[in-house]
Amino acid sequence: MVEENTLYYGDNLDIIIRYIEDESIDLVYLDPPFKSNQDYNVLFSEQNGTQAAAQIKAFEDTWQWDQTAALAYQEIVENSLENVSQTLQAFKKMLGSNDMMAYLAMMAPRLIELRRVLKPTGSIYLHCDPTAGHYLKVLMDSVFKPGNFRNEIKWYYYNKMHDRRKKMFPRATDTLLFYVKDVNSDFTFNQLKEKRDKPVKQLLRKKVNGKMVNVKDKNGHVVYRLKDDRTIDNVWRIACLQPASPEKLGYPTQKPIQLLERIIEASTNKGDLILDPFCGCGTAVIAAQKLNRRWIGIDITHLATSLIKHRLTDSFGKQARYEVIGEPITLSGAKQLADEDPFQFQWWALGLVGARPVEQKKGADAGIDGRLFFHEKINGKTNQIIFSVKSGHVHVNHVRDLRGVIEREKAEIGLLITLEKPTRPMVTEAADAGFYYSPLYDKKYARIQILTIEELLDEKTIDCPPTKRGNVVKTAERIKIQKGKQKQIRDWNRFKPL
Ligand SMILES: C[S@@+](CC[C@H](N)C(=O)[O-])C[C@H]1O[C@@H](n2cnc3c(N)ncnc32)[C@H](O)[C@@H]1O
Repeated sequence: MVEENTLYYGDNLDIIIRYIEDESIDLVYLDPPFKSNQDYNVLFSEQNGTQAAAQIKAFEDTWQWDQTAALAYQEIVENSLENVSQTLQAFKKMLGSNDMMAYLAMMAPRLIELRRVLKPTGSIYLHCDPTAGHYLKVLMDSVFKPGNFRNEIKWYYYNKMHDRRKKMFPRATDTLLFYVKDVNSDFTFNQLKEKRDKPVKQLLRKKVNGKMVNVKDKNGHVVYRLKDDRTIDNVWRIACLQPASPEKLGYPTQKPIQLLERIIEASTNKGDLILDPFCGCGTAVIAAQKLNRRWIGIDITHLATSLIKHRLTDSFGKQARYEVIGEPITLSGAKQLADEDPFQFQWWALGLVGARPVEQKKGADAGIDGRLFFHEKINGKTNQIIFSVKSGHVHVNHVRDLRGVIEREKAEIGLLITLEKPTRPMVTEAADAGFYYSPLYDKKYARIQILTIEELLDEKTIDCPPTKRGNVVKTAERIKIQKGKQKQIRDWNRFKPL
C-alpha cells in the first residue's frame, strides 16, 4: 500500500503497470487530452504579475494512426478482455484507421489498468468533452460494465467567454463520466449540499403510514420551512478559471480546485488514496492535499511535474510531504534523460533552478534556454538572468556565446548548466566576464556562472539576488489543510419550522 504521496514523471501506462498495486486506489480522476487537435501552451506571468506573451508548448493533443497506435490496438484486440476487444474492433469498423481511432487505442489500455488498481469499493471520474466523450462512454461501459455507471455530470462553466463568430450555441459544459468499480460494493458516496443564492420557502412534510403528508400546526395550518441549501445534482455550476483568477497559474487546461474538491468530497473519506494519471499542473493533487487525502499524480512532462512541486510548496509549505519518482537523482540518471529526450532534460534542468523555459531558439531568443527575473527596488528596473543548458560536450565557445547573449540582451547574469565538468579555459573565460553589482544587496555576483548537473543535484544553486518564483508561472495561493471532522453532508435537523 502507498503510504506516501507520490509524484511520478513518465508515461502513465508504464508507471501504473510498474508501480501501482492491484486494488489499492479509492478514487481515480482523469483529465486526459480531449483529442482537440491542438497544442497547449503554458502562459508565463510577466514580472508585474500579468500574463505574458511568452509561451512554451506544454503538451500536444494531436493524434494520428501510426505504428504505435496500430500496436496498441492490436495488443488490446488480441490480449484484452473479450468485450473491450470487441468494442475496439467495432470502433475500427466504424471509424477506420484515423486519428480518433488512435486516441481510443491510447485510452483503452489505460482504462483497463485503472480498473485493475481501483479498490472493489473505488470510483472513477473521467473528464471529457463532446469531441470524444460519446466514444469514451462506450469504452467505459466495456471496461467497467454499464451497471457500474453512476452519473454523467455536466460541469457548467457559465462564465466562459464565447467566440460569437461560430455558427452554433456556445459550448459551456464538459462531461465527467462517473463509474464505480462494483455497484454492489459498499462504495463511498457522500451526498453533497450547496448553498442557495436565496432561501426558498417549502412546505414541511413528513411520512405517516408510508405516505408523505403536510405537517400542520395546532391551528390546522400547514407549516413552512426556509431552505437555504440544495442537494447537488449532476449539473455542476462552477466558474472556469479566468486570466485574472487568483488560482490560475498559466498552465493550459488547468481545472478549478472547487471542481476537484467536489469529486473528492463525494467519493472519498479522509485518508483515502486518490490517483490522477494525467495530472497537469496538479489540481487534483492540491485538492487531495487540502482535504487530507493521500494522492498519486503522474505526468509525462517535466514542465508539469516541476510546476506541481512549486505549487505544493507555495500552497502548503513543508506540510506537503511526498516522494518524486522518475526524475533523475543521479548524474547517470540525468545522462540517460539527456540521451532519451533532450527537451525533457532541458525542462528538468531549468526546473532545478526555478527558471522558466524559452521555446524559440531562433531570432530574438537565439542562444537562450531559460530566463529568470529579479527586481532591484532602488532603480525599479527588472533585471534578467539568462540560462543556457548543454547536455553534450562543452567547450570555451559555449561560455563566449553566453557572454555575447547577455550583452545583446542587456542581462545582468548568465548561467551555463552543463552535464560535463567545465574545462579550464571555460572557467577562465567565465572569470573574465566580471561582476554584476547589486546596489540593493551591496554585493557582487559573477556575471557568468557555470553549474554542473552534479552540483545542482547536490543542491548548489545560482548566486544571484533573490528572484521571485512568479518567474516560472504565477505563485500559487497559500492553502490551509482541512484537518478537522469531515464536512457534514446531510443534516435534516437543520431545517427549523417557521
Ligand atoms: C488536460 S491536462 C490535465 C490538466 C489537469 N487536470 C489540471 O487541472 O492541471 C492533461 C495532462 O496529461 C499529460 N499527459 C498526456 N499524456 C500523458 C501520458 N501518456 N502519461 C502521463 N501524462 C500525460 C499532459 O502532459 C497534460 O499535462
